Amino acid sequence: MKTLTASEIIESESHFASGLYTKQPIIFVRGQGASLWDIDGVEYLDCNSGHGVANLGHAHPKVAAALAEQATKLVTLFESFYNDQRAALVQKMGTLMPGLDRVFFCNSGTESIEAAIKFSRISTGRAGIVATMRAFHGRTFGSLSATYNKKYREGFEPLVPGFSHVPYNNIEALEKAVTDETAAFIVEVVQGEGGVYPADKAYIQAARRICDAHDALLIVDEVQSGFGRTGKLFAVQHTGVTPDLLCCAKSLAGGVPIGAVLIGPKIKNLAPGVHGSTFGGNPLSCAAAVAALEIIEEEDLAGQAAEKGTYLMEKLSEINSPLIREVRGLGLMVGIELKQKVQPYIKELQARHILALNAGLTVIRLLPPLVITYPQLDHLVDTLRDVLSMELKDA
Ligand SMILES: Cc1ncc(COP(=O)(O)O)c(C=O)c1O
Repeated sequence: MKTLTASEIIESESHFASGLYTKQPIIFVRGQGASLWDIDGVEYLDCNSGHGVANLGHAHPKVAAALAEQATKLVTLFESFYNDQRAALVQKMGTLMPGLDRVFFCNSGTESIEAAIKFSRISTGRAGIVATMRAFHGRTFGSLSATYNKKYREGFEPLVPGFSHVPYNNIEALEKAVTDETAAFIVEVVQGEGGVYPADKAYIQAARRICDAHDALLIVDEVQSGFGRTGKLFAVQHTGVTPDLLCCAKSLAGGVPIGAVLIGPKIKNLAPGVHGSTFGGNPLSCAAAVAALEIIEEEDLAGQAAEKGTYLMEKLSEINSPLIREVRGLGLMVGIELKQKVQPYIKELQARHILALNAGLTVIRLLPPLVITYPQLDHLVDTLRDVLSMELKDA
């Protein structure tokens, strides 16, 4: 393959790609831990993790080795045949959360939500899905119907019928919304895209009780919050609640595309042919996921996220800037809500070689790899302190 120059790379992506993404003029070619390097060798601190994918850090050698080895053995195999890597992964995943011992594999977060919605309808024979305001569950039709923000929904109506939305963290509203017609209530234990809002423990516990009272199912969306990000393997473990369906994706296979649904005993009617996925459970992503889950355990990434998250939020709370409305989050899923639009501040951070995300218009979202070092966290806080002392306006 011919090596493309920097301008050829930018020209071809600008010309031939879909146009669906706002592109930043930086070409990244390599990563290691919490660092990314651009084509000129300039190092950036990655507090995006590819929207919460790189929990293990970039280029983890154990994931690389598992991929390289499996690529020489068997990359693809439909789930109608057995496979050693898939067996190893289901065995591991079936013990991650007591009470959820079956697994469905797909390829992304939105597909895991689609599957959970379908499983709850086929299981209960009901159509109603209650979701929350500010929720983000994905962009395909089922998950988009559960997503709240009209920015994602507009232009695609009519969406799937049977969905309603209730205010987040409001037990009374949930009590009214869940009925004997409800198949499931779907909720993020920490809302990510919606602005980094952790649920109250009592809210998730009440959701369990309310769903049980109506024989409705509880789906938790751990696509962003899963695999150590919040200081526990899954964010729902902070609440003591076991859901009926747990959706996950992003960092499960150390950066390789994968999605999964953990399935509890109340889910019925999952007979052959009811649902499926060509790539789901392929040996390559399964091998990567087995390696990733071992790393999460061996390196105690959840424990690291808990400690580093507390450290980061304490340091951020000490920043004395009139721009900051609130610092909130759980583990290394952190939001800094400003009293104004965050985009110029994210741009300024990028100019100083730190990548951060927004969550809505006014929240800076930090999702660094869980292996980020303390000196890197200090550098992040120092840079944020500096940047948040500036008066920046939207260009
Ligand atoms: C909570 C949540 N659910 C679902 C999704 C959709 O995942 P994907 O982009 O892999 O389809 C996302 C993506 O950001 C997410 O944050």
